[in-house]
Amino acid sequence: IVEVRITDLLKRMTLKEKILQLNQYTLGINNNSNNIGEEVKSLPPEIGSLIYFSNDPLLRNQIQKKAMEQSRLGIPILFGFDVIHGFRTVYPISLAQACSWNPKLVEQLCAVAAKESKLSGIDWTFSPMIDVARDARWGRVSEGYGEDTYANSVFGVASVKGYQGKNLSDQFSIAACLKHYVGYGESEGGRDYHYSDISSQALWEAYLPPYKACVDAGAATLMSAFNDISGTPATANRYLLTDILKKKWAHDGFVVSDWNAIEQLIDQGVAKDRKEAGLKAFKAGVEMDMKDNIYFEFMEELVKENKVSIAMIDDAVSRVLRVKFRLGLFDKPYTATTDEKARYLKKEDVELAKKMAAESMVLLKNKQILPLRKETKIALIGPMAKDKTNLLGSWSFNGRDADVESLYEGLKKEFNEPSQIIYAKGCDFDKDDESGFEEALATAKKAEVIVLCLGEKKTWSGENASRSTISLPAIQEKLIMELKKLGKPVILVLSNGRPLELQRIEPLADAILEIWQPGIAGGSAFAGIISGRINPSGKLAITFPLTTGQIPIYYNMRQSARPDQGKYQDISTESLYWFGHGLSYTNYNYESLTVSKTKFTAKEKIKVSVTVSNIGKMDGEETVLWYISDPVASISRPIKELKYFEKKAIKLGEKVIYQFEIDPIKDLSYSDANGNRILEEGDFYIYAGDKKLKIELIK
Ligand code: IFM
Repeated sequence: IVEVRITDLLKRMTLKEKILQLNQYTLGINNNSNNIGEEVKSLPPEIGSLIYFSNDPLLRNQIQKKAMEQSRLGIPILFGFDVIHGFRTVYPISLAQACSWNPKLVEQLCAVAAKESKLSGIDWTFSPMIDVARDARWGRVSEGYGEDTYANSVFGVASVKGYQGKNLSDQFSIAACLKHYVGYGESEGGRDYHYSDISSQALWEAYLPPYKACVDAGAATLMSAFNDISGTPATANRYLLTDILKKKWAHDGFVVSDWNAIEQLIDQGVAKDRKEAGLKAFKAGVEMDMKDNIYFEFMEELVKENKVSIAMIDDAVSRVLRVKFRLGLFDKPYTATTDEKARYLKKEDVELAKKMAAESMVLLKNKQILPLRKETKIALIGPMAKDKTNLLGSWSFNGRDADVESLYEGLKKEFNEPSQIIYAKGCDFDKDDESGFEEALATAKKAEVIVLCLGEKKTWSGENASRSTISLPAIQEKLIMELKKLGKPVILVLSNGRPLELQRIEPLADAILEIWQPGIAGGSAFAGIISGRINPSGKLAITFPLTTGQIPIYYNMRQSARPDQGKYQDISTESLYWFGHGLSYTNYNYESLTVSKTKFTAKEKIKVSVTVSNIGKMDGEETVLWYISDPVASISRPIKELKYFEKKAIKLGEKVIYQFEIDPIKDLSYSDANGNRILEEGDFYIYAGDKKLKIELIK
């Protein structure tokens, strides 16, 4: 029925009306106007989409009313916005979410984000970001699910399901947008907006699979990336946008360009002017023009000049309309108008924020100092200790400091006597000013333990926020060095949007807790881990290098020619903390890694299982990361690759069996340069925890 309605509309639409559907206007920003009211008045009612920099459902409905009543055909506007890790209930950044290894929680929090967005007038989020990112200098590593392809696929799918719900037309579903298609995480040197050189092999093996998984999960839209891929900008890449996405994968939603990205084809040197840029992007398969107004300005001319056919326009418009129909916008164009209190921060949604914050924090080091006894006198020091803004992370437009529980507040609530917690800031994030050191030292002297809260400002991550070195600013490193001289235990708490270079300060810390940018509920989750109320279960979804110079360093690098050599002369080839690292307050023992069949054919699915027992001190949750390696193949394969993971609760003294079903065609094959899966007989290894097992694929 949707297709019938689309065909009917297309028959009745003028070319101008069609072109307007392909145009996305940004309301309330960058349109040389500070007056949204005036902008709304001048807005053509036939506009296809708006980036909605407001959270006011009434204003949305007023704008929508104009579209429904003043346009000839009453086509609703699609309201989009960057809802990245929560709307008003701000959750941990996506990179942190991945460290929870709990896709169910990701799905749930995206559903909350969808509900709050919808109640604020938004139908479409520019999320999830599923760019595999292996360069921690790149500011946007915070926005995705880490360095692994499979992890990005699983968490990407979870978030699509969360946003889009069972049905896109459900009251609180919004459309997802997979971004940035594709290879943006590979921008050279971690410089944002830069080119990427990606072999066809790597494209199919590492970068495309999360997109394929999310397209299969029904993601309504995609955003093309800023970067080029070996010379062809993603925004003008017909091979990627049309041949793969629309033809091979049969995606029938639409692609939106990134902000200003069509015009930027001129800067990238593949278009001489705006008109040619528009032609290239459109012909490649970008249906919606974000912010540039290029389609609006030139598309009619391009049609007249026979450079763009009506059939192409109709295909593009039908894709946009299809998403609008699926969202139910034609039948229910308006959103519920409730007051702010009813819209946001519901008790259960905040509970979810606490749960995700707790599960996403990673205990990186613990020299048997954590958890702290309830009576411990604690000196809470550092620029992050009372900070609220930076805990929210980048892309948290609707987050409010007032909603955030700081680390200080969390700790005060957690421990018996509030007087146990004494505070000093010590220094700022990056101001070269040691005047606060004296107070910090005096405070630390009065305590048994120093909990030092350092990290990055939220503006140091996100778009256009790359860093050339990923260490903490010198002033923060100096603070820990001075405090360490007191000889008291130092628990280092880090809040940041990327892995950090910690080589100078790691030896000074007795424990290190990575809390990322944990959102509104970071304070209570952090305090719960410090006190032992919460047993940490997070594991890194991205490697922490020893030094910035080691980048790129990731766990699934390919096997090299001289594995024992080729080392840096000045440092180890080991990272500081590999992907998958994360400690607990209890100990787990992996045993009995077994397989249903050691020799099997391509058609047989085999079951591997491992028993994990909790032999430590308290109940816990353990994630088993299942890896496979292919030591001999026609092409050099990664040292090992993550194929499956599962998180389960294990009570103290109990054993739990984890299972993974291997489908040889899916799990033992690799992609060739055209995306065909190649399966070769021979030996493979399976890894779970510290256990390893050989299996053999036979004819
Ligand atoms: O969605 C974002 C994208 O990730 C980066 N550029 C701007 C877009 C819209 O805000």
